[in-house]
Amino acid sequence: MRDEGAGVTTRPAPTPHRPRNDPGQYDDLADEWWRPDGAFAMLHWLAAARAELVPPARRPGAVLVDLGCGAGLLAPHVAGKGYRHVGVDLTRSALEQAAEHGVTAVRGDAARVPLADGCADVVAAGEVLEHVPDWRRAVAEACRVLRPGGTLVLDTLNDTALGRLISIRVAELFPGVPRGIHDPRLFVNARELVSECARHGVPVRVRGVRPQALGMLRWLVRRALPGGMAGRSAVAPPRIVPTWSAAVLYQGRGVKGG
Ligand SMILES: C[S@@+](CC[C@H](N)C(=O)[O-])C[C@H]1O[C@@H](n2cnc3c(N)ncnc32)[C@H](O)[C@@H]1O
Repeated sequence: MRDEGAGVTTRPAPTPHRPRNDPGQYDDLADEWWRPDGAFAMLHWLAAARAELVPPARRPGAVLVDLGCGAGLLAPHVAGKGYRHVGVDLTRSALEQAAEHGVTAVRGDAARVPLADGCADVVAAGEVLEHVPDWRRAVAEACRVLRPGGTLVLDTLNDTALGRLISIRVAELFPGVPRGIHDPRLFVNARELVSECARHGVPVRVRGVRPQALGMLRWLVRRALPGGMAGRSAVAPPRIVPTWSAAVLYQGRGVKGG
């Protein structure tokens, strides 16, 4: 793993008293990343949906830069698309797992990406912008490392009253959902995101997405049963589907001009 010396390193003992959005929570929850019914289950569903927006590589040696890659949950979904998958993240414990899944792991801040201008055919920024204190800086960096003609794909949480209600107050009521992983003050207004991307040469279209309702219900019921998912016949993970409103969760996709 390349270490670019950004702030967070060791794996501390779990503590329930971390401030909201403290990146140390990802160390506390390091064993959850690859559990399909664990604390990060929804990230698996979102990664599958994000990968559908990634086109097949158009040249040999094409690079996909995955900002805030976490443990590399996107990797299995883009594996057949022909990219070298480079992941940038602050959290060393997550990067170690990403590397085990074939991701070239680079430790660094999404707001100061330690990669060259125009090095990426695709930049993915999945569920990370809402964790970066200056998301505009991260968007500028995503657009900088993207080559002309390259594709930006992202998903994040909208800075709306409904977004804060669902993503914090409602979501954190569910057993298994980590409390305090999000700070609603960092949520990303969709209109501002579109205008910021355009300012950096990437016209982005956004659409609201949500877990498919019946699949989600089936999955929640199955997980709530005594013994959880263990030993039960597999239940398909809910699909992430488009929805009419981008007020809570949204995806964006755009191609850099020039
Ligand atoms: C919600 S997880 C999403 C992980 C991955 N994109 C996925 O969808 O599975 C957020 C990730 O962003 C990382 N992160 C938070 N702030 C960051 C920053 N400023 N720069 C780089 N990574 C950051 C965290 O360490 C964590 O791995």
